[in-house]
Amino acid sequence: MCGIVGYVGRREAAEVLIDCLSKLEYRGYDSAGVALFEGSEIEVVKATGRLKILAEKLRGRAPIESRCGIGHTRWATHGAPSDVNSHPQSSSRISIVHNGIIENYLKLKEFLLQNGYTFESETDTEVLVKLLDYHYDGDPLSTIIRTLAKVRGSYGLAILFRDLPGRIYAVRKESPLIVGYGEGENFLASDIPALLKYTREYSILEEGEIAEIDEAGIRIYNEFGKPLEKERLTADWDVEAAEKSGYAHFMLKEIHEQPRAMASTINSRLENGLPELHLPELTDEALRGIERIHIVACGTAMHAGMVGKTAIERLTRVPTEVDIASEFRYRDPIVDKNDLVIIVSQSGETLDTLAALKLAKEKGARTLAIVNVVGSSIARAADYVMYTYAGPEIAVASTKAYSVQLAVLYVFALRLALARGTLTKEETRRYVGELDRLPQLLEGLLADTEHIKYLASLFMNCEDLFYLGRGFDYALSLEGSLKLKEISYIHSEAYAAGELKHGTISLIVDGTPVIALATQDAIFEKTISNVKETKSRGARVILFCKEGVEVPQDVADYVVKLPRYEEIFMPMLLVVPLQLFAYYMAVLRGCDVDKPRNLAKSVTVE
Ligand code: F6R
Repeated sequence: MCGIVGYVGRREAAEVLIDCLSKLEYRGYDSAGVALFEGSEIEVVKATGRLKILAEKLRGRAPIESRCGIGHTRWATHGAPSDVNSHPQSSSRISIVHNGIIENYLKLKEFLLQNGYTFESETDTEVLVKLLDYHYDGDPLSTIIRTLAKVRGSYGLAILFRDLPGRIYAVRKESPLIVGYGEGENFLASDIPALLKYTREYSILEEGEIAEIDEAGIRIYNEFGKPLEKERLTADWDVEAAEKSGYAHFMLKEIHEQPRAMASTINSRLENGLPELHLPELTDEALRGIERIHIVACGTAMHAGMVGKTAIERLTRVPTEVDIASEFRYRDPIVDKNDLVIIVSQSGETLDTLAALKLAKEKGARTLAIVNVVGSSIARAADYVMYTYAGPEIAVASTKAYSVQLAVLYVFALRLALARGTLTKEETRRYVGELDRLPQLLEGLLADTEHIKYLASLFMNCEDLFYLGRGFDYALSLEGSLKLKEISYIHSEAYAAGELKHGTISLIVDGTPVIALATQDAIFEKTISNVKETKSRGARVILFCKEGVEVPQDVADYVVKLPRYEEIFMPMLLVVPLQLFAYYMAVLRGCDVDKPRNLAKSVTVE
């Protein structure tokens, strides 16, 4: 959601904050703002819209001589995007930036109104800063502790007290925050990419912990104000990984990074030609004891789970359900101690997904997290973690993170199948050999993308589009459709090919675009006959299938053939042209590909 940064040191604080925020803009881009100490005053500058508008505003005014400040990019929750609703929010003595939602803010606001406070914005954050002001007695730590005791909700919070120039306070609950250590300068941020240019040394703030940051150092206290020794970590992501490196968009760069990301993720999990989870507790016996699997996630990660379910059931015969995290957590799911709950998340911070994980643990299930961001809340809360090695994913639309989630789910399925004897060692080795080939096949697909761009140019003006497939192809079509919707704003639906005629086919008229996925031999003809049903009603069809299959005449207007490859792994190949199709459609329509409207990268609210 929103991005938070803080800086104190010898550099121009405004410049550092804008630079750090530019690496976090993917977390929200409705508005942005900074609060800067100038002597013992706090100067606040905010702007609706993208960060560059704030940067221009700062350039256009008298320079602010400041070495300490906090900044924010906003994804609006309470109150429309506007200057007045932007952060920082301030009282006469305190300024804050906030990521999260204060659930009981209306009650708190009433209390503050009765105590003489007035409000300019519609935000829960203004309530929070005024509540801090109400409690402020000159002791920041005890003020923060007493204030937050009254607050229900989630927050990552950076605070400046006017009478403590050169010092930043930060505290978190359910919203990520890290502190970064420099030489004579220190940092605060929601996420590592913000700080990579300045430092790689960081610590993660845990629930309730409070950081006190100044030029001399960073002190961390627990929720009761007791000083703590924190472990220092070193980020191994390089700066390059968080830059566009010559690509027009992060999304395009991240699509092209997939061969490398897949190689890192897969190779680290193969030993002597067999899958290896590197989870000592998940012994063969433990794997054999699993009675049911639940895969729980949101959005693209949930779509990866759909492919994972198909693979796990096919290879292991273990009943597997996929759940949307926000549904799972409120439907009193049937989960018990012999179940394994697999939680999938790129950021490791998605609030609903984290809550689903906690619920699964309460119900006694074992939990396995498949996560990209090391040390994230979900990674820390799960019983077991399998990291994906995609590197930082900056574009809001997930691409490489989806692919590596698939890779880990496949490796898991193979390992489970081996332990349960549904695959022999030889069969498993054959699959592993196919996984080994994947990065090279992906390189091949990415070497020539012109034909996908051409197809996008033919379809760019459509307003409704259908994705059809069966089995693995259906699971993948959900992701193809989401990618298109979120970045090009074209309405699209993914349908199980055989289900279309139970209602939705009434929407197929002359010229309706249909993207048909047919990569599975056993059901190829079935899918083709469903595609024909759309064709005979006038659909314009692009068919994706494998080389070597015979496509009947007049079933598709355009046919894209993918290399022959192990059938169950086809989603990991076919996803690439689908991502590229969505990307080029969005580019050709002039959309802001990396920052689609209304979206944010990390969803830390319900
Ligand atoms: C879409 C997209 C989202 C995320 C979802 C879950 O491109 O990125 O649908 O997949 O918000 O996020 P994570 O994986 O961080 O839990």
